[in-house]
Amino acid sequence: MLAASLLCLLAAATLGAASPTRRYIDHVVHESLEHTPVQWTKREDFALNPGARLPLRFGLRQQNLHRMYKFIDGVSNPQSKSYGQHWTHEQVTSTFAPSDESIAAVTEWLLENGIADHRIEVGSSRLWISVNSTVEEAEMLLHTKYHAYDHDTTGQGYVACEGLYSIPQVLSEHHVDLIVPTLHFDVPLRAPTDGERRRRGERDDKRSLDLSLAHPLAIYSPQPPAGGEDLDSCNITMTPTCLRTLYSFPPAKRAAKSNSYGIAEFSPASYLGSDLDLYFSEYSPKLVGQRPIQVGIDGGAEQNATYGFNFQGRINLNLQIAMTLVAPQKVTLLQAGDDIVGASFNTVLDALDASYCTYEGGEDPTLDPTYPDQQPSGYDGPKSCGIPKPPGVLTTPVSLSEAQLTPFYEDRQCHDYAKLGLMGTTVLYSASDYGVAGVGNRCLSDDGSEVVGSGRYNPTFPGGCPYVTSVGVTQVILGINITAALAKGEQVEKAMSLGHIFPGFGYSGGGFSNVFAMPAYQEHAVHRYLASPNLSSISQYFNSTGRARAFPDVSANGVDGQVLRSSSASCSATTFGSLITQINGERLAPGKSTVGFINPALYAFHEVLKDVAIGSSPGCGTDGFPAVEGWDLVTGLGTPIYPRMLELFMSLP
Ligand SMILES: *[C@@H]1O[C@H](CO)[C@@H](O)[C@H](O)[C@H]1NC(C)=O
Ligand SMILES: *[C@@H]1O[C@H](CO)[C@@H](O)[C@H](O)[C@H]1NC(C)=O
Ligand SMILES: *[C@@H]1O[C@H](CO)[C@@H](O)[C@H](O)[C@H]1NC(C)=O
Ligand SMILES: *[C@@H]1O[C@H](CO)[C@@H](O)[C@H](O)[C@H]1NC(C)=O
Ligand SMILES: *[C@@H]1O[C@H](CO)[C@@H](O)[C@H](O)[C@H]1NC(C)=O
Ligand SMILES: *[C@@H]1O[C@H](CO)[C@@H](O)[C@H](O)[C@H]1NC(C)=O
Repeated sequence: MLAASLLCLLAAATLGAASPTRRYIDHVVHESLEHTPVQWTKREDFALNPGARLPLRFGLRQQNLHRMYKFIDGVSNPQSKSYGQHWTHEQVTSTFAPSDESIAAVTEWLLENGIADHRIEVGSSRLWISVNSTVEEAEMLLHTKYHAYDHDTTGQGYVACEGLYSIPQVLSEHHVDLIVPTLHFDVPLRAPTDGERRRRGERDDKRSLDLSLAHPLAIYSPQPPAGGEDLDSCNITMTPTCLRTLYSFPPAKRAAKSNSYGIAEFSPASYLGSDLDLYFSEYSPKLVGQRPIQVGIDGGAEQNATYGFNFQGRINLNLQIAMTLVAPQKVTLLQAGDDIVGASFNTVLDALDASYCTYEGGEDPTLDPTYPDQQPSGYDGPKSCGIPKPPGVLTTPVSLSEAQLTPFYEDRQCHDYAKLGLMGTTVLYSASDYGVAGVGNRCLSDDGSEVVGSGRYNPTFPGGCPYVTSVGVTQVILGINITAALAKGEQVEKAMSLGHIFPGFGYSGGGFSNVFAMPAYQEHAVHRYLASPNLSSISQYFNSTGRARAFPDVSANGVDGQVLRSSSASCSATTFGSLITQINGERLAPGKSTVGFINPALYAFHEVLKDVAIGSSPGCGTDGFPAVEGWDLVTGLGTPIYPRMLELFMSLP
């Protein structure tokens, strides 16, 4: 409910406006999305019930965000006097909290439109105002029309407004970032619910989810291959020993107190304990029977009911690698969402930020994700609010295309990642698996819509956010003798390139963001790249002004040899995150901070990474960007050289 001071403000505002004239009349378009994201189809046969609950959330304009780069540079640039002096949650909250004026203005407008005071709630960190509205009220407030949408492949439902929505000009200009749900199809794909399946006549089987996932798994055979610890077979099976050898990464001796490594996964994808043990028994017998520390967000729990490999394969693989590489350090699984409603990036961010504590969800199961979920067996508790402390490293194996979201949405979420960085969390995302194409091998046509296979390059999100570390994907060069090549200091890895096996898929991706500007930390590297390979034949496909954020930043192996027992590009971030976790452990032991946002340090000291100069990122009917010596748009600064990274970060305060 409203804090007392706000009520005073409101009272003052109301008294001031003695006449009954309405102050908020001149609506302007606040956000628009010209094209419904591909694969989402409006259900023409279905009209929403005007009285159905459609809770709206207003993301308020935050203060001081324009100073974010300076703030984060202050704690993460090795040249800075305050390097490593991360902020507390309270500092973050008070620095960025929206002004009283913004809260008052939005509230006043809602009251003016007949929304009773008790239906308006301000979240605990004041970032969001929630309104327990109906479809009819939402349409009236936002001058728009809501529709139900279906996802073509998975059958899941969603409610969104069509094309655009409007709010009074003063709110649009000064007080509101975005309103959800409106235009943002921020919906990680999941299995259809029973209801959705019935509606579709059960014509699709769950397997159809496979290729629509951002980081699909390549091929699967349930048996771990023979070969064990022999380095000669690293080109066939990428074992933990191979990864340790590639990156000179020794096992940790002990787990540091208060160190943590968080991996987020969205339900219904979830790990299967027996699969973890199968892997552990082969590669790390001491871990058999061990499980991640599970933090359920909004009902997240181990889901082992009926789902197949498409739901468990990816997270199993990520956990197997992370748990083995960082042992005896534990891994925390941030399992977000319940089996029915699923979850999104924001579900995880909210829980880390505790900003949604007062939120009451909706009742319409085609709204995704809103809590509590009122379907039978859905999660019915209060929305999770506040995980005690964000983990030292956070990876999430899902990405979307920038084109599927709106700039306001992306900018806001990107700043949330920056806040995690300010508090000392390293946020890692794997680059795409589709070369320069977006998720699902889609490119941008001239009108901005997504089309399969050709058009302008289509960068992914959140990789293009300058406050995350984007991890490109490498693989061992085929036919190489790793032992011999490493001994001679020769190149052992190249950019992932599996297109000969999976047409249009299996290339490490990256590119120039169409939303975010280039951060200072990478200016030198990117300008150097733009000046060297001859990109004139592809320059019409991307923002070549030298002012856009370019990614990936670094890279790591994400391909399980060339036999591809099972492989997901998301493993590149997981592996990189494992090394950072161990560096955090080494720093925490003598009382230093975690490393937090690592990009400024890595670009400044790129010799701690091994350059990868072989390969490219084909897509959209072109050869994409070439990997070259030095930073490039395929493998970033290169793969880790653990001892050098450790030395660098231990040398910093
Ligand atoms: C939201 O509205 C519904 C129906 O109008 C009501 O039953 C429910 O209690 C309301 N919840 C809150 C938190 O106001
Ligand atoms: C499924 O999970 C439950 C706990 O969530 C556990 O008791 C059960 O043994 C698991 N089943 C399998 C097949 O792993
Ligand atoms: C794997 O590496 C060995 C040498 O260590 C080589 O003889 C063999 O051909 C390679 N196999 C593949 C599939 O690359
Ligand atoms: C790979 O190279 C190492 C070191 O040069 C050598 O001992 C080993 O026999 C080689 N393996 C194969 C399969 O050729
Ligand atoms: C390129 O990116 C910069 C920085 O984000 C932006 O200002 C500019 O408008 C973009 N140019 C084009 C043609 O998209
Ligand atoms: C770059 O390549 C284009 C053809 O793709 C060619 O016309 C041009 O001369 C090249 N520029 C340089 C500087 O080599």
